[in-house]
Amino acid sequence: MNRTRLKNKWVLITGASSGFGAAAARAFAAEGSKLLLGARRVDKLEQVAAAARRAGAAEAHCHPLDVSQTSSVEAFVAWASQTIRDPQSDARILDVLVNNAGGAHGLDSVAEGKDEDWENMLQTNVLGILRMTRAALPLMVRQPGGTIINVGSYAGHSAYEGGAAYCAAKAGERQITRSLRLELSGTGLRVSSIDPGLAETEFSLVRFKGDTARASKPYEGTHPLQAEDIAEIMVWVASRPPHVNIDEMLIKPVDQAAMHKVYRRPRG
Ligand SMILES: NC(=O)c1ccc[n+]([C@@H]2O[C@H](COP(=O)([O-])OP(=O)(O)OC[C@H]3O[C@@H](n4cnc5c(N)ncnc54)[C@H](OP(=O)(O)O)[C@@H]3O)[C@@H](O)[C@H]2O)c1
Repeated sequence: MNRTRLKNKWVLITGASSGFGAAAARAFAAEGSKLLLGARRVDKLEQVAAAARRAGAAEAHCHPLDVSQTSSVEAFVAWASQTIRDPQSDARILDVLVNNAGGAHGLDSVAEGKDEDWENMLQTNVLGILRMTRAALPLMVRQPGGTIINVGSYAGHSAYEGGAAYCAAKAGERQITRSLRLELSGTGLRVSSIDPGLAETEFSLVRFKGDTARASKPYEGTHPLQAEDIAEIMVWVASRPPHVNIDEMLIKPVDQAAMHKVYRRPRG
């Protein structure tokens, strides 16, 4: 595996304050990449940036980002553009964009659904990717080997009760990824969707609005994916030779044979 391709490359990660995004920061750091990290919780971001420096990042910078607000996305990308600027040539080249920010809110049926939850999921998981990509593309175009990684979900492939808006959002992410790949044909940029199944992050805590008892249920008795499993795959995708595009990857824990078939070990 030729990972030296990522050394000193600029990697922008959204949702880098926890879960897959924080693990991705550490994993790209270990390749010697230069990091631009965004999320709303800046205190957490600063901790992730410090850990990334210790893990070998050539540079690690962070800035507040709310992907549900166009003004925030534009301010973030303006900061990123200034941060990556080469003072000699004035060139500003972003090598890897990881559109990871997102998540689920609630597990209500459509009949019981809340506008706020639906809007939140579509704002972050769908419009967030569109906004970030639109803003960052000028820093990436016509650059062979440049990579956009969108984080989708098994939920974009398979539906479940209470998941209508989240499944729709992640199915939307897959179609955005496919459209973008067509639109960028000929530019040398590649576009991938990484679609995890059950993974132990803050995802469930966010979905159940801080209810730790409910949040731990999906992981009971089973062996879920860890954030590092997905981060390692992001690094692998971004370090393929420039002519190789990994279109889509569906990654599930062995215990999750299907959406509704998760093996759970008996207690004791
Ligand atoms: N865990 C799973 O089982 C699983 C499976 C498939 C796909 N996914 C997807 O994986 C991605 C990462 O989730 P995770 O599992 O790592 O969960 P997580 O630990 O909750 O991380 C979510 C990240 O997204 C950020 N975020 C949320 N809303 C944001 C916004 N409006 N603007 C900027 N950042 C925002 C959060 O940061 P702040 O709160 O600090 O803003 C956090 O850094 C999400 O797209 C999620 O849908 C998760």
